[in-house]
Formats: sequence, C-alpha cells, structure tokens
Amino acid sequence: MRYGHFDDERREYVITRPDTPLPWINYLGCEAYFGIISNTAGGYSFYADARLRRLTRYRYNNAPLDFGGRYVYLRDDETGEFWSPSWQPTQNELEDYSCRHGLGYSIIGSRYKGIRSETLYFVPLGENLEVWRVRVTNDRETAAKLSLFSSIEFCLWEAQDDNTNFQRNYSTGEVEVVDGVIYHKTEYRERRNHFAYFACSAPQTGFDTSRDAFLGPYRSWDRPIVVETGKSTDSIAHGWQPMGSHHVEIELGPGETREVVFLLGYWENPQDDKFDPPNTQTINKRTVTPVIEKYLQSAAVEQAFDALRDYWTGLLGIVQVQTGNEHVDRMVNIWNAYQCMVTFNMSRSASLYESGIGRGMGFRDSNQDLLGFVHMIPARARERILDIAATQLATGGAYHQYQPLTKRGNNDIGSGFNDDPAWLVLGVAAYLKETGDTSILDVLVPFDNDPSAAKPLYEHLQRSIGYTLDRLGPHGLPLIGRADWNDCLNLNCFSETPGESFQTTEHKEGGVAESVFIGGLFVLAANEMTRIAGRRDDKVEEERCRKASAVMTKVVESAGWDGNWFRRAYDFYGKVIGSAENSEGQIFIEPQGMCIVAGIGLENGLATKALASVRERLATPHGIVLQQPAYSYYHLNLGEISTYPEGYKENAGVFCHTNPWLMMGEAMAGNGDGALDYYLRINPSAREEISEIHRCEPYVYAQMIAGKDAPTPGEAKNSWLSGTAAWNFVAISQWILGIRPEHGGLRIDPSLPASWGDFTVTRKFRGTTYKIAVRKSAGSTGRVARLVVDGRTIAGNLAPLPAQAGQTIEIEAFVQ
Ligand code: GLC
Ligand code: GLC
Repeated sequence: MRYGHFDDERREYVITRPDTPLPWINYLGCEAYFGIISNTAGGYSFYADARLRRLTRYRYNNAPLDFGGRYVYLRDDETGEFWSPSWQPTQNELEDYSCRHGLGYSIIGSRYKGIRSETLYFVPLGENLEVWRVRVTNDRETAAKLSLFSSIEFCLWEAQDDNTNFQRNYSTGEVEVVDGVIYHKTEYRERRNHFAYFACSAPQTGFDTSRDAFLGPYRSWDRPIVVETGKSTDSIAHGWQPMGSHHVEIELGPGETREVVFLLGYWENPQDDKFDPPNTQTINKRTVTPVIEKYLQSAAVEQAFDALRDYWTGLLGIVQVQTGNEHVDRMVNIWNAYQCMVTFNMSRSASLYESGIGRGMGFRDSNQDLLGFVHMIPARARERILDIAATQLATGGAYHQYQPLTKRGNNDIGSGFNDDPAWLVLGVAAYLKETGDTSILDVLVPFDNDPSAAKPLYEHLQRSIGYTLDRLGPHGLPLIGRADWNDCLNLNCFSETPGESFQTTEHKEGGVAESVFIGGLFVLAANEMTRIAGRRDDKVEEERCRKASAVMTKVVESAGWDGNWFRRAYDFYGKVIGSAENSEGQIFIEPQGMCIVAGIGLENGLATKALASVRERLATPHGIVLQQPAYSYYHLNLGEISTYPEGYKENAGVFCHTNPWLMMGEAMAGNGDGALDYYLRINPSAREEISEIHRCEPYVYAQMIAGKDAPTPGEAKNSWLSGTAAWNFVAISQWILGIRPEHGGLRIDPSLPASWGDFTVTRKFRGTTYKIAVRKSAGSTGRVARLVVDGRTIAGNLAPLPAQAGQTIEIEAFVQ
C-alpha cells in the first residue's frame, strides 16, 4: 500500500494522505540553520547544534506522535469554524491534502470547505532563517472572511535543560514585540548574544507570545482559545512558555488568492552591541531588520527558492544515471544523494529517532558519511576531514564522538572503539580519489585538539594504521576494544547493572578479544594507505602497509575462517564468535562483507563460499539480517547485542548499513544479478508499495528493518541518519554501475545483471564532464575491457584524466 508517489520530474515525494504510518519527515536548511519538518508540519528548528541552539520545541515520543511544529490555522470568521491546513493539530477531514517533500523544502497544501491553502517551507541559502510562504485561495462562489494564525513554541535554547529544568525555566522567558515582529530573547540579558524572531509580511490584527494566553488553560494545540474565538490577546510572555503567533485577517473574493510570508529566524549580535539604546535591555534590531525586511517581500522569497532549486540541480548534476530501472535512477539521481547530504549536515544528531540532544558526531560515522557526499561538496569534505582528524589521539586512537559546536572529543564516551582510526584512512582516501588534492596530506593537524601537537594529516593516517598494528591479539587479529563497527558487540565490557551504558562500562583490557571485522577493515585501509604512500613516493610506508595487509590477510584466512564463512570475533575468554561451533550467532554479516570488500578470499574461493553462506543463511526478502541464529537470551559476555529482542537492531535485524558491503562483494565476485538483487531488497523506492509494512519514509533509507525473527518483519525504524546512505550510494554507483573515482582517473567497471542492456551516466570528475555510455548486450555478464574515449580506443577500463580539465569527454564502454 502506498501513501503517495514519487514526482521524479520535480524531485519530490508527494504524500497524499496525512495519516502516514509514521511521521514522514524532510529537512530544511543545508548550511547552519536547520529544521526537521513532517508531512503534517510537525518538527523543530535549530541553529548549528540541535541541543545548544534549539529555536523551537518538539515533543518526542508523545501521543499523538509528532507534536510541536510550524502550525498555521485558518478560521472562517463567518461561521467560526477553524482548521489546520496541514491536518495536525486539528485533524479536520481535509479535501485534496498533499505534502510535497522536495530537496531542502516542503510544500503542504489542502482544501477545506472551498478554501485552498498551500504553505512552502524552506531556508534561503546563506541565511539563518526559514520562510513559510502561505497562499490562501478562495475556491468558493462567494466572498470569504478568514483569519490566519501562525504559531510556534519557543525552546529556551538548551534543549536538554528546556526539557528538565523547570524550576528555573518557568521564570526566565522574555520576549519583545516591535512592529509586528516577535523577538524571543530568553537569557539575552546575560550571556547569550543571540535571539530568535518571528515576523509576518501582512498587517496584523493581533499577536500572542504567551502559550497560556494563546491556548487557554488546559487546552491543547488542537483548539487554541485564540483561534476558536478569533481574538488574539496581544499577550506578552513573562516566564512560563513563550511562543509566537500572528493574527492576520483576510478577505477573499471568489477565485482570489492572498500570500502571507512568515519568517522564523536566528540572529547573533556583536557582544558589545547587543542593546539599543546602549545600557538598556532592548535588543539591538538594527542589525537584523534589513534581513527581515528583505525576506518579507514575495519577490525575494521567490528568488531565494529558485536559488535553492538551482543549488540542488548543481549538486545532483555531478552524478546522473539513466539505467531504465526507476528505483535505481531515482535513488541515485535524487534521494540517495540527498540523504547523503543530510547525513553530512546532521551526522546522527536530529531526526525523529535522534533527539538532537544525545549524540555528537561519530568518528566512524562521519568518516563513512564522507564516502557519500565528497563528490558534491569537496571543499566542505576537506574541512570535515580536518575537523575529525584534529580530534584524533596521539596514539592513533580516536574519541568515538565529538561535539559539532566545539569540535572537541567527547570525554563521556571516550575512545577504545578499535575500528575507529581505520575509517579516517578510508575517508581521506575517498577525498583524494575524488579531488586529486594531495595537499591535504601536508596540512598540520593537531592531536586531541592541541595545536602544539600538530602533525601533517599524512602522519595521522600512519598512526591510524599503527594503532591497529600495536593492538593485535593472540591470533594476530586486531583487538576489538570496547566495540568495532558493531557498537553492540561489547566483548570487554560486562554489564550487570540496569541502565548502565554497555560501551562505557568497565573496560577489561584483557588483550584477548579480537575482531575479524577489524581484520578485514584493516586490510582495506592498509591497501588504501599503500596506494597513498606509493603516490607520495614514500617507499618505507608503502612497504610497511603492503606487508601488513598481506600478513593480516593470511591471519583472517586462517584464524578468521570457519570453513564456510568468515568468523566474527574471539571473546574475552578467547572463545570463537560467529562460528558453526556456536549455538546462536553462528554467522554474522559484517565480516563477510568487509573481508570481501577488502579483497580477501576473492582469488582462492573463500569469498564465493562466504557469499553462498550469506545467501543461504542471512538473506531475507527484506534484506540481509545481521546474524543467525538470533540471540534468544542475554549473553553477558557479548554486551548490548543480545539485549535486543530477536530480529531487532543488532540482534538479527536487517541493519541496512551492512547490506551494501554484500552488494559490493557480489559485484566484485562478478555476480551482478546477486548484487542488484540485494540492492533492490532494501531500496526504499522498491519498497514503496509495501509502505504499510515498511512504515518509514519510502524515499530514504532507514538504519534498520526488522529481521525474520521479529514479530514485525519488514518494519523499518530509524530513518534518515545512517551510514546506510553513504554505503548504498557507493555500492550502486561505484560497484554495480561501476563508475568509480580512482587516484589516476575514472574507472568504468560495472557488474550488471545479465538482463540489462545499455545505460548512460554523466559524471563530473575533477572539473571534466564524462558522458559515459555503457554498451552491453542482454545476456552478457562480463566486464568492460575496452573504452572508446572521444573516438579513440583504449584497452582496459580506466578513463584517464584529460591533459586539461574543463571539457566534456564522450566515452563508450563495451561490456564483453
Ligand atoms: C549505528 C551507529 C554506527 C554503528 C552501527 C552499528 O548506526 O551510528 O556507528 O556502526 O550503529 O552498531
Ligand atoms: C545503541 C544502538 C546502536 C548505536 C549505539 C550508539 O547501542 O543500538 O545502533 O550504534 O547505540 O552508541
């Protein structure tokens, strides 16, 4: 069952009924000001940090779900009837409801008793504000007298404190209202130099800034007393809950339309120029007024919206494919790329499943995310790499997370997730291959943010490699530390106390628990480092990495091999995990994926065996589950993984993030049919028709789909912020379609289903536009062996870099 449809032409997903199984959200903003917005206008906004600079309130995990938002109300002043054109919060039965989630904007429209309205929400590029452009049209045959009310509830900035510290916060709220603009200035009197504002383009009949006055005692947002009576109270909030609402009266003849623009924004004043006049408590508004005045003009709004659309056309234009498979095309060309940009902006901080309060930027997560967006915003990727690397510890280890606002490592969680450092090598390698900008390797980057301990980025990478080599266990495999990619496999942290964190509880550095997964990851990273060192003519490092990779490969193929698949790990006591010897958790997806992606076993048949085992034991119609058999009880020595009921999350859920490794593995092994098959099992667009089962948004990947052992197999959770986005983009674009940046040029190496014919790709790469036509006869499963580049035949499949960038190159790639 569907709740809407894709509009590929406009790059939108159109939701046609408001009661989606879960709120289906979108993101506003792509620089510093952000918001999440649901299909019924729920959500909230923040500047730069969802915890420390939260503008508006939102109630997670509430009933009904999705409460708090950017709500407007319409009221028929002749009958007194009122409704929410976005359905929530009043939930009237609307005619023609639709929500168009586009790239960085959402348009929610509906009709109610002949009154049509459409609200466009977006953040203009370069600004720290959001626009709500409301258009109201009278479809009736008679004139209509209406009232339009806006509403938002201000958060007192620190979202965690706002949710907990009521004894203080009920007394701190302050606002100003001047010329119809509502300014929220809680704590501006003391250490804050920022405030929020809420402005309206139309003359107003009244306003409210006190929630209590607006809603009325004991009422909720579904029937505010002000809207019900049609009378704003011009309330000024003193403490309690400051909010903003404007009241605009609209008279419309038949067929007539009125446009009203609301602006919600964030502004910082210079510390020594906060007040105007000086020595008062009045906000200096001189600095912000020009911005407000500009965007209250329809023409400026229109222009900013066009600019936003052009911005996305530019970003998405870097990779465009026409394969004839709609699920492939729309995900690669639009939604998967978009989701990668959202993970760049949000990391794992703010979604419907991440409260914006708890988690910082993950060292591993942020490096992986890079793989998905580096081609779109290389300059910002460079900056991100340097930020991440500056949190690295001198040992080569890493804080597991860092705070986006301070860019410092997070001490509460600390380090000791032994896979973390290797991801930095992969992130940097992806950047180098995309851009060719080797100058980044010489940038001096601090360790642990201490500038006196700065070393070239290149040395950071060397220490990352060294970190693993310094921490090998009894079999010669990497020690796992607190966890590896699987945050929930905590082999050294035994927790018997309810509520304590599995990852940060007592860490028994036994020096025994080893990870086969890190073994595979290390080989991949060491191979990248071999190439990086080689291109730098650093023979010593090149040799060190080449040898280390070869040695680790041998170890993985022996101590890490179980006979039919790669083992997962050895525990604190040296006992094997992920082996036929175990009664539960016999086979795990991660080492199969990562070891094969690293190239292990591709030549000696181990990979083929492992892939067959995955297909037989782990693959389900909803994707490949994380392990089998699921853990049926709590295993103290395994950590968080077995805390989850069977089929959910790391305990045998389809952890989507891992699936692309198997797609890549199949593609590398030459099985294009197998690769695309896995790809389509979790492709959100391909799952659209089972939206009632999948439940999450059909336009983005979710972190997890419930596995076959769960009571709700196929049900997705934790949409949007997941490494799934980046890895699927890599799997489909670089390994299945096979358009892959390398240090020396663009590799064209598709691994396709037999039934496929020709397809075309446009790829902008290092300043040159490659127009690629892959020529393939249906039935063939071979690889590309020759290219015709601008009419000239070249053996092999590497499109070389032109002597001069900037032109367009036509390439035909022939599949044998
Ligand atoms: C979450 C984390 C990621 C981890 C994965 C598996 O997605 O963000 O870092 O690798 O779970 O535990
Ligand atoms: C929980 C989640 C896991 C996530 C981790 C982050 O353990 O289950 O997916 O990676 O938290 O700390």
